[in-house]
Amino acid sequence: MRIALGSDHGGYELKEEIKSLLEEMKIEFKDFGTFSTDSVDYPDIAELVAGTIVKGEFERGILICGTGIGIGIAANKIPGIRAALCHDVFSARATREHNNANVLTMGGRIIGSELAKEIVRTWLGADFSGGRHQRRVDKISLLENKYNKSNS
Ligand code: RB5
Repeated sequence: MRIALGSDHGGYELKEEIKSLLEEMKIEFKDFGTFSTDSVDYPDIAELVAGTIVKGEFERGILICGTGIGIGIAANKIPGIRAALCHDVFSARATREHNNANVLTMGGRIIGSELAKEIVRTWLGADFSGGRHQRRVDKISLLENKYNKSNS
């Protein structure tokens, strides 16, 4: 599994911690920035990371901003992205099993690095359950098509 990783300035420090974790776990990843605490706009990073996933270049992404909210809202605008904000381990497992989330978002100003690392380990280790959950994920894709402005 190849992971695309990114953050804005609010998530920069936590991103660096998550990078170390991925290295320890020997998981292949690419860091799409940002590369300092200088201010950047989180939708730009969301597009970089989510774009590579919908193109099939990476299987999953991890996005971090101050809250995890803005960067997740932006990523979810890209058809095919199911970005989930998780600040607890239960949600991290459930969003893989139930929603087949392909992007994890977290807030660098919200959680500590040890909890964030446990969330990442759990999220990376959990698989989609399929079955009735597949039907629901398919309905999310239908919503993307139904409300895509170019289709109306
Ligand atoms: C940046 O100051 C902050 O707004 C951003 O990191 C994020 O929290 C937005 O949702």
